Amino acid sequence: MIQKISQAELDRQQAYARAFSSLPDRPRTYHIVTYGCQMNAHDSEKLAGMLEDMGLTRAPTREEADFVLHNTCCIRDNAERKALGNVTWLKEIKKERPSLLIGVCGCMVQEKGMAERILNQYPFIDLAFGTGNLHELPGLLFRAAQERSRVVAVPQEQSTIAEGLPIRRESPYQAYVTIMYGCNNFCTYCIVPYVRGRERSRTPEDILRDVEGLVKAGTQEIMLLGQNVNSYGKELPGGWTFARLLSEAAKTGIPRIRFMTSHPKDLTDELIRVIADTPAVQRHFHLPAQSGSDRVLKAMNRYYNRAQYLDRARALREAVPDIGLTTDLIVAFPGETEAEFEDTLSLVETVDYDSAFTFIYSPRVGTPAAALPDQIPPDVAAERIDRLIKAQEKHTEARLNSLIGTRQEVLVTDRSRRDETMMTGKCGRNININFEGAPGDLGRILPVQVTSAGKTTLRGIRLED
Ligand code: SAH
Ligand code: SF4
Ligand code: F3S
Repeated sequence: MIQKISQAELDRQQAYARAFSSLPDRPRTYHIVTYGCQMNAHDSEKLAGMLEDMGLTRAPTREEADFVLHNTCCIRDNAERKALGNVTWLKEIKKERPSLLIGVCGCMVQEKGMAERILNQYPFIDLAFGTGNLHELPGLLFRAAQERSRVVAVPQEQSTIAEGLPIRRESPYQAYVTIMYGCNNFCTYCIVPYVRGRERSRTPEDILRDVEGLVKAGTQEIMLLGQNVNSYGKELPGGWTFARLLSEAAKTGIPRIRFMTSHPKDLTDELIRVIADTPAVQRHFHLPAQSGSDRVLKAMNRYYNRAQYLDRARALREAVPDIGLTTDLIVAFPGETEAEFEDTLSLVETVDYDSAFTFIYSPRVGTPAAALPDQIPPDVAAERIDRLIKAQEKHTEARLNSLIGTRQEVLVTDRSRRDETMMTGKCGRNININFEGAPGDLGRILPVQVTSAGKTTLRGIRLED
């Protein structure tokens, strides 16, 4: 049973927040360092919201902060090493400034055995908590600050949803909206189901209330978040599907909708129809393939084969001809032969993606794939990823070039640091377009004609609206 965190518990945390703000030598400023995916980026917005509710203000750099919190990722070994390396670096600063409080949270902390490791190997970490007790930050920080003792809290079970947490959003134009937490798929290489718990969907009422609030606040674009958004609503009463949620979200009047991430096994014709019929849904679909080889897909426990994946990509293209497809690919999964790797290369040639995130398989302790024989040597893996990147680069270049001369709608989100008059933002296909504009364009959706293509971005001129 999925349960929302009770109002009584949220009130208890509020009381901690108030008590904290009267502690005499409490930390006054915070800085959050975020690693990993959009889930973590959005969690950091909630952490910042709670900290600001407690009266802390944001410090622009970690050197200036009284409390530095690391929101970690453990999807691959390098993500984990980066996070731990940075935490260790703060140890030196703490020698000069003993009042500095150091916290770690996020997926890495939720890994099996990590809480003990933190207690034993990282004595300079004051506060550690998992993804399952993010909402307890006020109480945990209160204890760390008041008692000046170490606080480590990692829940075993993650079966709850915390509604109503304050959110300090990074952008006034774009907003993340979580629609579901956790993952049930257990791809054999992946740590996420172990650190994020089982799939649990937020209710459509809670989600749509958030979206309506964002529309009122002037948000131009939302990104609906979940590890596998296509299986939204499976455990909810009332026959909710992701397709239905998407069309309801569009009815709020939000100008643009994106979503991340989709699992090919749950990509229904109903969803494809809604995308085709709903102009607010942007013309970009991220459809992680992972591999082009049937044997490897089976060993990865992906629940689809190459032909089924290609059928979904074809159905998307048929219904929405101008859609841009992107993907995630893993090379050097245990036992991957040269021929199986070439199946992934040929998938890239066949699908013609706009772009692809390519990863070298990284064994994660506790996942089934880490125990498989035939782990691939690093030099073979490096050579394969090079070839894969080169193959995709040609497609990216060709796909970008094919947009020259087209009209695109750009949500203007940034200005160039070097040139005040150059503005930038993403078109529906999720590609950055630079064009000459003015700072007043920020936050507007403007028509731009594409004039040239670089390696990963486009250039254009602004058209009259
Ligand atoms: N839930 C999303 C993705 C989550 S992780 C999905 O299923 O699509 C993002 C990407 O990281 C995955 O798509 C996969 O390509 C990659 N990844 C996950 N575990 C990995 C591992 N152990 N080694 C290398 N890449 C991995
Ligand atoms: Fe990991 Fe697979 Fe779940 Fe994605 S669907 S989070 S890759 S287990
Ligand atoms: Fe990393 Fe956790 Fe996201 S492991 S990729 S931050 S869900």
